[in-house]
Amino acid sequence: MTLSRKVRGDAAHRSISRRPLYAMPGETTEVPRYRIPEHAMDPDEAYQIVHDELMLDGNARLNLATFVSTWMEPQAARLMAETFDKNMIDKDEYPQTAELELRCVNMLSQLWHSPDHEEATGCSTTGSSEAAMLGGLALKRRWQQRQRAAGRPTDRPNLVMSAGVQVCWEKFCRYFEVEPRLVPWTPDHHQLSGAAAAAACDENTIGVVAIMGVTYDGAYEPVAEIAAALDDLQARTGIDVPIHVDGASGGFVAPFLTPDLAWDFRLPRVQSINASGHKYGLVYPGVGWILWRSPEALPDDLVFRVNYLGGEMPTFALNFSRPGAQIVAQYYNLLRLGREGYRRIQQASMDTARRMAQAIEALGPFQTLPGSAIPVFAFRVRDAAAPYDVFDLSRELRGRGWQVPAYTLPPDVSDVAVLRVVIRNGFSADLGELFVADLERVMAELATQPAHHRPHRAAFHH
Ligand SMILES: Cc1ncc(COP(=O)(O)O)c(C=O)c1O
Repeated sequence: MTLSRKVRGDAAHRSISRRPLYAMPGETTEVPRYRIPEHAMDPDEAYQIVHDELMLDGNARLNLATFVSTWMEPQAARLMAETFDKNMIDKDEYPQTAELELRCVNMLSQLWHSPDHEEATGCSTTGSSEAAMLGGLALKRRWQQRQRAAGRPTDRPNLVMSAGVQVCWEKFCRYFEVEPRLVPWTPDHHQLSGAAAAAACDENTIGVVAIMGVTYDGAYEPVAEIAAALDDLQARTGIDVPIHVDGASGGFVAPFLTPDLAWDFRLPRVQSINASGHKYGLVYPGVGWILWRSPEALPDDLVFRVNYLGGEMPTFALNFSRPGAQIVAQYYNLLRLGREGYRRIQQASMDTARRMAQAIEALGPFQTLPGSAIPVFAFRVRDAAAPYDVFDLSRELRGRGWQVPAYTLPPDVSDVAVLRVVIRNGFSADLGELFVADLERVMAELATQPAHHRPHRAAFHH
């Protein structure tokens, strides 16, 4: 999302025509577009104006760019509508909503194998980005404490991660003054290996981020291998580096589809994990989760205790007020679907993604990036001489309503451009077939067009 700017000059005086649709008596009047109108208007009329403008947004269900849920069951939507007015922070006033958050944290601690003898601790967030800020801050504060205890300086913290990290980690580093140590991708190695992670660490490393479900290609980074390499680093040098797992997508996929893969609190070096409830947690936008393996992993001086809402309440969050409806919806999903329901939904999405990737490969000119472990696949145009590139395809597909981002891979491999498709709950195999048919049609059309001017390629923000 770009920053909004103040509109100046003539454009600032543009207006919106009232009653755009209805033949109602009286003059058609106008209201300002960028200033607050002087007078109130009829709610139905205001509704219609806003509703009509929003028709210009893309159809969320055809948005194959987003990882975020675009469909929920009507019962979940009803519960959300019933709880739109609840502020998550008012835990004393809405103790039952707070209880549902607590139940979700407990359920996730089990799902992510918190050992019985440890007391995992965690909270909901607005999404994985806020969770990343909190996870990163806890790593930084713990490192500062260790450094101070050892009489060492605390002015040059760094965080080790792959160049394929989502932008939230670069934000964390910039906002909270930590050096990002990005381990580059190479043409045939896109993941953070244990050896590369350990080699990038030193005594100023606050942690290593390992990604379960890389945004670019859906792959799982080898968390156990990274943990083993960091164990070895500690044995050799005494440097003890914790792991934070960014399970934005994989945190709600791996436990159901690859339950034997140890990436979570089964690995003692994993100190914290985040996931997006609004991605494969299957909730509408606005909820993430972060858990620490024990209260010791979350330094106490980051937790604020406030009593002005009634009761003594510990909070660790960037925002204060936040909607409660998403937490209610997350609890609904966990309760309603159970492990079996989640497994079936994630498997169905995975099957659709695999079938689509195969069908797209079978068209000829495309190559799918290997290694995706979540219902996501990215594909490139194999032949540089093809009469189109992924940016052309993305633009033309939009004409049919499909929103599929085209983007380049991280630095060092940024000569490779791909299209990425994210399959989510509610996207049927049938829609998948329609997409492939449209892709084929668009390819044929582009192939017959004379060399055309390729418009400016908008950057895609992961
Ligand atoms: C790996 C990864 N981490 C973090 C994020 C940020 O998540 P959110 O949109 O929930 O803030 C994303 C979003 O795509 C992601 O893919």
